[in-house]
Amino acid sequence: MKETDHLVIGSGIAGLTYAIKIAEQFKNRNVTIITKEAAKESNTQYAQGGIAISRGIKQNTFEQHIEDTLKAGDGLCNLVVVDKVIREGSQRLKELIAWEANFDQDDSGKFILGKEGGHSVNRIIHHKDCTGKELIRVLLKKVKTLANVTILSHHFAIDLITEHQLKKKHYGKKKCFGVYVLDQHNDSVITIKSKTVLLATGGIGQVYKTTTNPSIATADGIAMAYRAKAHIEGMEFIQFHPTIVYDHTTTEKFLISEAVRGFGAYLRNSMGRRFLFDYDVRGELASRDIVSRAIYQELRKSKEKCVYLDITHLDIDSFKKQFPTITAVCIAKGINLELEGIPVVPAAHYLCGGIVVDEFGETTIDNLYACGECANTGLHGANRLASNSLLEALVYADIIYKSHFKIDTKLMLDIPDWETNGTITRMPKEEIIRYKDKLQSILEKHVGIIRSKRGLEIARKKLEELFLEIEVYYKTNTIDSRICELRNMINTAFLIITQSQKRHTNKGGYYNIDIEKNTFKKE
Ligand code: FAD
Ligand code: SIN
Repeated sequence: MKETDHLVIGSGIAGLTYAIKIAEQFKNRNVTIITKEAAKESNTQYAQGGIAISRGIKQNTFEQHIEDTLKAGDGLCNLVVVDKVIREGSQRLKELIAWEANFDQDDSGKFILGKEGGHSVNRIIHHKDCTGKELIRVLLKKVKTLANVTILSHHFAIDLITEHQLKKKHYGKKKCFGVYVLDQHNDSVITIKSKTVLLATGGIGQVYKTTTNPSIATADGIAMAYRAKAHIEGMEFIQFHPTIVYDHTTTEKFLISEAVRGFGAYLRNSMGRRFLFDYDVRGELASRDIVSRAIYQELRKSKEKCVYLDITHLDIDSFKKQFPTITAVCIAKGINLELEGIPVVPAAHYLCGGIVVDEFGETTIDNLYACGECANTGLHGANRLASNSLLEALVYADIIYKSHFKIDTKLMLDIPDWETNGTITRMPKEEIIRYKDKLQSILEKHVGIIRSKRGLEIARKKLEELFLEIEVYYKTNTIDSRICELRNMINTAFLIITQSQKRHTNKGGYYNIDIEKNTFKKE
């Protein structure tokens, strides 16, 4: 059994920022970060476009940014949250700069601001096309200077400890006392007790076959919170990014930043026509939900495999300078940017809903906080405005840190150890891959950009069968992170499907063809 003052699950922007702040402010408290792979592996690490920051100046006002966020969120954002997050951005940016983050500036020292879909002005602070890499570099470097922070890499959080594990009755709000963690170095399950627990476990992209998210994005935090009975909402709002490289020779998916369209790139169909204006007056710079749906519909009409992102009319040298990673990937794939468009398709990218938190970042379980992509703060509504995610993580990490100035100093004394009840057999790796593939195919086919009543029913039935098979396995075998991930993805897919079934209006990242045809409520 380990004890810590503050336990953080996840080492992306949310977890690291919070840990740095608490550890710097309270040298007498210890902070433990557990993370399931190497510390840098996270969605954050792959962020390209940047951080949307308003400076409160004429060319980039708070009010414009608020309006763009509300418009993208399709009427479902929480205005109080939107206002707070946007007004705090530039303060959080100053901190990142003080921690020595580098963002692109011109010769006079002014930030070079990018533009993305749904933004009415250029306001994206970035580090070329690899902002996330720069953020993780700075945050990990900073964390390592703090003696009271411990990072336990290759430690997998299995389940939250609440009254349920303590076999205690609870009255009113439940409480979180710590986490059961699989130490993947020696396959043992340890108990970590903590005065506060922060879920900063990131996204869910891996429930889909075609996703921009890396392999760590298996929805663990959402599923843990769900099993602990925290309130989870907005799971139907899946954001599909419009442009990942279409390459049928590999399962690796590479995102082409929306900043490329902000730089002036056009989306063309196979006939060479810019089709986006058929769908929205903003053309290529409409919000993501609209652009992804337009591509989907265009492909359905044409029966083609992809559309094309065309930069042949742009200044190629400036492009290469601003987008060196994208340029290198295109060259490696044999795409000649000066002569041809990049073949692209949409892919599952971001979860707009998640674990519901209050204005302090606390979930509906006492002592359990959530920050970053796994949290539902109310900022994004039905569809996140581009580059508002890193911003939200920075602002809420600060809010949660401030709410932890005072903490409960009494720890629950007796937490039972993890109960092992299985044999030492494991599910073979190929079996896990087969099950994951099955799950991803269900979501891809029935719970994608455009859904239907019947599709959701089929998906739910198939998922229930899969759930039963995996649950039996989970209960009778030694714990293994891959089976835990599979179980977490199944739990989360269930939430996506069932919350989709409850929504009767098309909004942002949720679109149901039966609602459009008005056939949803028939029968
Ligand atoms: P992550 O950065 O995903 O970190 C989650 C952490 O939790 C990881 O360390 C993971 O290993 C750990 N973890 C998960 N489960 C467990 C477990 N069971 N036990 C232990 N550890 C666990 N947003 C923007 O605002 N601007 C952008 O330009 C941008 N570009 C993007 C480009 C790509 C390709 C992708 C995929 C996303 C992009 N996003 C962007 C979205 C943004 O990057 C993420 O939403 C954000 O980084 C999430 O940060 P996080 O700290 O919440 O989670
Ligand atoms: C991108 O660079 O297109 C991704 C930005 C985001 O997800 O906010």
